[in-house]
Amino acid sequence: MNLVIFGPPGAGKGTQSAKLVKEFNLFQLSTGDLLREEVSKKNDFGNKIEEIMKSGGLVSDEIINNLIENKISNPEYKNRIIFDGFPRNLDQAKSLDNLLKKYNQQISLALNLKVDNQILVKRITGRVTCSVCNKTFNIFFDPPKTCDLKDCGQRKLITRSDDNEDTIVKRLKTYDEKTFPVLDYYLKKGIMKNIDGMQDINAISDQLFTIIGAVRS
Ligand code: AP5
Ligand code: MG
Repeated sequence: MNLVIFGPPGAGKGTQSAKLVKEFNLFQLSTGDLLREEVSKKNDFGNKIEEIMKSGGLVSDEIINNLIENKISNPEYKNRIIFDGFPRNLDQAKSLDNLLKKYNQQISLALNLKVDNQILVKRITGRVTCSVCNKTFNIFFDPPKTCDLKDCGQRKLITRSDDNEDTIVKRLKTYDEKTFPVLDYYLKKGIMKNIDGMQDINAISDQLFTIIGAVRS
């Protein structure tokens, strides 16, 4: 089955996707991660993307749809994708439906993590990622531990360049204006489930496991 995981910046989409990947053998397709990969190439295209990400706005639908089609068309990922951070506006939601149709697939479930804005700001400003195993931690809520590859002597804890208070305010505004309306699109399809994203990380994943397990069976 293919899933969409929704929620504002810092809601826990990436954290929960990592757990769902392990539990259900899914493939996490994070448009934010794909864009950061382009940024790391340090060419003109990557620099343009970085500027937009730092401004808290959305990268063009054309760029996103190209990145997405590359993955959806791959038979290895067929019917086992978690879309994390995509779709982010109504046009992307419609393009996703068309693309999935082209490759004989569909979305079975849209999971919406609901978190208050004050908590989101704290989660984002506290986020650090391990340079060795890529796992995300939080200096306030989930302090960095020995990393999965046990090579911690080599690691650095990385902070994303868009995780500063100025950009966060803009990202939250973009979410409210462009992304929030997408929830209604999935609500009308009858596949939307709201989850209290204010609980601790494991309580949320237990709830997600139950919801997904019920839809899969
Ligand atoms: P993207 O990378 O998708 O960022 P985002 O949507 O802003 O979401 P985040 O990754 O910040 O948060 P998350 O929900 O994954 O939270 P996480 O699990 O890390 O996008 C970045 C930018 O790229 C966008 O602004 C845009 O410019 C561009 N972009 C991306 N996709 C696009 C698209 N489709 N179209 C156009 N542009 C696009 O958790 C956050 C922190 O909280 C972590 O430290 C974690 O440890 C902690 N935490 C998680 N859960 C809990 C919990 N339950 N309790 C306590 N702490 C928790
Ligand atoms: Mg994320």
